[in-house]
Amino acid sequence: MLLLMILLPGLLLPAGPGAALGAGALRDLEDARDPAALEAARFALESYSREADERRGPARLGAIRRAQAQGSYHPVNLTVLPCRTWKEKNRYIFRVVNGIKYYLDVTLLLTSPCSQDGFANQDAAVCENPVEPEQLACHFEVWSQPWMNRKRLVKQECRPAEPSEKVQSAASLEPEEPTRAKAPEEPLRSEALSQNASIQLISLFNDFLTTYKKSYEDERETKRRLQIFAENLEKARTIQELDQGTAEYGVTKFSDLTEDEFRSLYLNPLLAKLPARPMKPAAIPSDPPPAEWDWREHGAITGVKDQGMCGSCWAFSVTGNVEGQWFLRRGTLVSLSEQELVDCDGLDHACGGGLPSNAYEAIEQLGGLETEGDYSYEGHKQSCSFSTSKVAVYINSSVEISRDETEIAAWLAKNGPISIALNAFAMQFYRKGVSHPFRLLCNPWMIDHAVLLVGYGTRGRTPFWAIKNSWGKNWGEQGYYYLYRGSRACGMNTMCSSAVVD
Ligand SMILES: *[C@@H]1O[C@H](CO)[C@@H](O)[C@H](O)[C@H]1NC(C)=O
Ligand SMILES: *[C@@H]1O[C@H](CO)[C@@H](O)[C@H](O)[C@H]1NC(C)=O
Ligand SMILES: *[C@@H]1O[C@H](CO)[C@@H](O)[C@H](O)[C@H]1NC(C)=O
Repeated sequence: MLLLMILLPGLLLPAGPGAALGAGALRDLEDARDPAALEAARFALESYSREADERRGPARLGAIRRAQAQGSYHPVNLTVLPCRTWKEKNRYIFRVVNGIKYYLDVTLLLTSPCSQDGFANQDAAVCENPVEPEQLACHFEVWSQPWMNRKRLVKQECRPAEPSEKVQSAASLEPEEPTRAKAPEEPLRSEALSQNASIQLISLFNDFLTTYKKSYEDERETKRRLQIFAENLEKARTIQELDQGTAEYGVTKFSDLTEDEFRSLYLNPLLAKLPARPMKPAAIPSDPPPAEWDWREHGAITGVKDQGMCGSCWAFSVTGNVEGQWFLRRGTLVSLSEQELVDCDGLDHACGGGLPSNAYEAIEQLGGLETEGDYSYEGHKQSCSFSTSKVAVYINSSVEISRDETEIAAWLAKNGPISIALNAFAMQFYRKGVSHPFRLLCNPWMIDHAVLLVGYGTRGRTPFWAIKNSWGKNWGEQGYYYLYRGSRACGMNTMCSSAVVD
């Protein structure tokens, strides 16, 4: 097949429309079979064919010689979000993925006019000596906003292909039918389709309202939420298409929230912005880790909790870790208070976000944690009502664990569950399975959620991390997220830490 990509020496490519807003690194898509690159190339070809020289035959995709992609971001103004308590600046710009730009070098095959019956400009003299179909080397740039289902060809440059760029056999990446002669859809049929689509949509939305006991104040708000729900289904479909794992994405309890709402209500962008307090490095066991491990099977993990509409994930991640450390050192599993940290940890920002490294420090300064029962969760900041007489557990210090996934596994299996942070991009619509988001969409530097790593293993052939989340049991797999292990997916390796109980 012609799917082999010939890597040309690096070209310098001009910045595109998204770049002005802030662009990520340009990266090679290692595999030209990459479905997203192929889809972008097909789209480019379709746009190209619409305007192509009428005297030529239809063009087909011969090969993708090089494909690169670049994520671009648009700024979100956080003054309108609850994370404004950050001291150093009262406002900062946080970037969210806005679109992807594909840079494609492709070879197009043009069908010889002579092979086409009824072709307008047949030249008898030329057709007596049929030649190889002509080949064009084209550079296309396609700007794509997958969840808007929007693509645009922003650049096209075609010239006759050099011998080194030619496709050897006449086979093509595309089936034989010409791209130009696409039959227009019958209006009646498409109307029926879209009617079906809206009936399906409304029935999904009704199921959603029932399942998650949702209601809105009036009809206008309900319509607005239905619109957001529809856009989110589209977005989930895109994440699904680009996922490289076995995960299923779709309707979740967050399906009626816009990305900005979800981010401000449930995530913690301070994780990527604030420098973590330096901690001692943890000693990594020298023995290789066991093939799988799960602290849930060893009684070290309490039930899944729900942080509610409060960016307090950092507190849940830390109490989960301390619960595990206390259990492993003292033999009892005690559910610990997140509200104490929300109210009394002056180093962090309550529902506005926080850092595990600060929370350990705060627990040391306070003198320990009360139990969940004594200091129960309210989901909003109150005045501190911590009492030293009710301290149930203490910690003595904290450590930073390696960024190497094998070392993380080795530490975990020997020492207990780990507080980690990650980019929660794929989590809003995650339902089950092992999530392995398209790398460009899950930038490892934009970590915005803290969770608890409780184990690891392999499902079928897919290695995973088992992650305890704090969005209730009615999210994910009974409250758990399974993330691909071995590619530092979504930056899960960048902020691993633990409390130490001596
Ligand atoms: C951010 O929001 C503030 C307050 O609403 C406004 O004054 C400021 O101009 C906004 N900045 C940007 C870049 O949108
Ligand atoms: C619409 O849905 C019905 C029932 O699900 C199905 O029988 C019919 O073929 C669908 N029509 C179209 C155009 O998809
Ligand atoms: C750990 O902290 C506890 C409570 O503050 C203290 O009683 C204990 O002595 C400390 N252990 C060590 C080894 O310092």
